Amino acid sequence: MYKIPANTLFMGKNLVFVPECPSTNTLALQISQQSAAKEGTLVITDNQTAGKGQQGNVWEAEPRKNLTFSLILRPNFLAVNRQFFLNIVVCLALKDYLTEKTSDDIYIKWPNDILVHGKKISGILIENQLQGATILNSIAGIGFNLNQKRFSASTATSLSLSTGREYAPEKELPTIVGYIESRYLQLRQGHFDALMAQYLGSLYRRNEKHSFSSQGKVFDGIIEDLDDAGRLRIRTDEGVKSFGVKEVQYLG
Ligand code: BTN
Repeated sequence: MYKIPANTLFMGKNLVFVPECPSTNTLALQISQQSAAKEGTLVITDNQTAGKGQQGNVWEAEPRKNLTFSLILRPNFLAVNRQFFLNIVVCLALKDYLTEKTSDDIYIKWPNDILVHGKKISGILIENQLQGATILNSIAGIGFNLNQKRFSASTATSLSLSTGREYAPEKELPTIVGYIESRYLQLRQGHFDALMAQYLGSLYRRNEKHSFSSQGKVFDGIIEDLDDAGRLRIRTDEGVKSFGVKEVQYLG
């Protein structure tokens, strides 16, 4: 039974639980459009049957073992060209939470995979509804692997696999939501530089030489940083190039 978090100002104060649904992001979007849903409304399910991942992928989560939830945000203080900061906020919040829970190394793989000991523990899907230069609604969807032990992908992990412990989803949810609120308030206060610096400080494979592919070509490069729009800047033999989410793949 999920409870309204006692540790937040507004995040999760309106909580919508459904035992099963195709996607909490889709449901949250419907709720945000149908009614004047409050900012911070949290939509959560125990069994997400058609979870949406990045780039049209599917997010799979064993029922009742993990957290699958979405938050309705209204970041009208944020310029559209800085919308990537919403990804930064959620990534850093999940890293904050994990730092409290595990001693394994934690990295953020651009744009928004959270890796523990090199494996993906959490995925984030942020869907923004824009109107001109304004972000009307932002749906921040989070899939967090808590207790699942077996995954179809060998690149996935869970908190339980990292620590050997079991976690009650209803106990962990308020802690995570509290961290998301803190980071969101940091963004609302305009601390862009600090947020970016901390994101870059946690960036997977930064400042190391690795292979990448783009448009069918393989190349070596060194991840330097992000541009203001959140594009990945990689130093190559031909100089520094910026890549959008679908434009570059990590190899090796
Ligand atoms: C990824 O591909 O890494 C992003 C996965 C995001 C999954 C979460 S689970 C809750 C929310 N509802 C969805 O349909 N997707 C997101």
